[in-house]
Amino acid sequence: MIDTFKTDVKKGLSALPKFLSSKYFYDEAGDALFVKIMEMPEYYLTRAEMEIFTIQTKALIKAFEVEKGSYFELIELGSGDGSKTKKLLKKLVQEDYLFDYCPVDISKHALDHLKMDLKKEIPALRVIPKQGDYLDIMANFKQSKHKKIILFLGSNIGNFSDELAMKFIHQLGSNLKKSDILLLGVDLIKSAEIVLPAYNDKNGITAAFNLNLLKRINKELVANFDLNKYKHTAEYNEEEGVSKSYLVSLEEQEVYINSLKESFYFKPNEKIHTEISRKYNDDVINQIVLNTDFQVKTKIIDAKAYFADYILERF
Ligand code: AVI
Repeated sequence: MIDTFKTDVKKGLSALPKFLSSKYFYDEAGDALFVKIMEMPEYYLTRAEMEIFTIQTKALIKAFEVEKGSYFELIELGSGDGSKTKKLLKKLVQEDYLFDYCPVDISKHALDHLKMDLKKEIPALRVIPKQGDYLDIMANFKQSKHKKIILFLGSNIGNFSDELAMKFIHQLGSNLKKSDILLLGVDLIKSAEIVLPAYNDKNGITAAFNLNLLKRINKELVANFDLNKYKHTAEYNEEEGVSKSYLVSLEEQEVYINSLKESFYFKPNEKIHTEISRKYNDDVINQIVLNTDFQVKTKIIDAKAYFADYILERF
């Protein structure tokens, strides 16, 4: 892991324009900051999807096309604290559906915590946690002959480029069978007025989240980034529906990364691209699934039409 981090940092900071992957946001401090982001009034995404899972639970279950007497596996990629999924799980248990819940996460800590939590809240539910990389875990499910419902919520797919999103969905499909379902939760394209504050809040929580990446490089790769000499910015292209986050060097400077034994030069105002948060509509989704083995069956949206849970069916 540290070796890939090293290689990726070297590659990103040597490139023009510079970039770093948003997957490195999530160390312990980054996880805690992301929890704070989800609680911010500006970050509408979590609340909008929570509304769907709370109010439209029946419609979600109907879209899964599962029968009461036949067993299925409900697999959630990146389950975190499972707060939205709990609404669905409670309803499925109440209605006597026959299924197991398999939360998949990179963090063992998050999975242990979720399992304990669910034991208390929904004692009748069988929870089979799987720790690791999503696609590796999905490959292990390939042998299973049962129907599978995959949840990928929170617009997590939006942190991939469209090309990577397509590859990811295609690979998921290769481990599934006809009639299996992928529920893809995505943020919808909307005005900059609503999107930008979500990625540049007035209390600076998102800025701290982005800058934490430099803190992590300082700590793990023994570097000397001066966090006061960089600032967070977010840009949103409403026509494309793409929000991008950057760290901007406030002056000309050089940073030394000891574990790479290398210095990196920054011009004043030079940017490091750190994240893409894609927003979607039907056209974008259709374009992405075009070369996969899925078709869009339906979508369920919140009252403000901010967020959509697309139901994709494997054919
Ligand atoms: C995890 N992911 C969907 C978040 C997003 O909205 O792109 C990460 C995030 N970045 C800044 N704020 C939240």
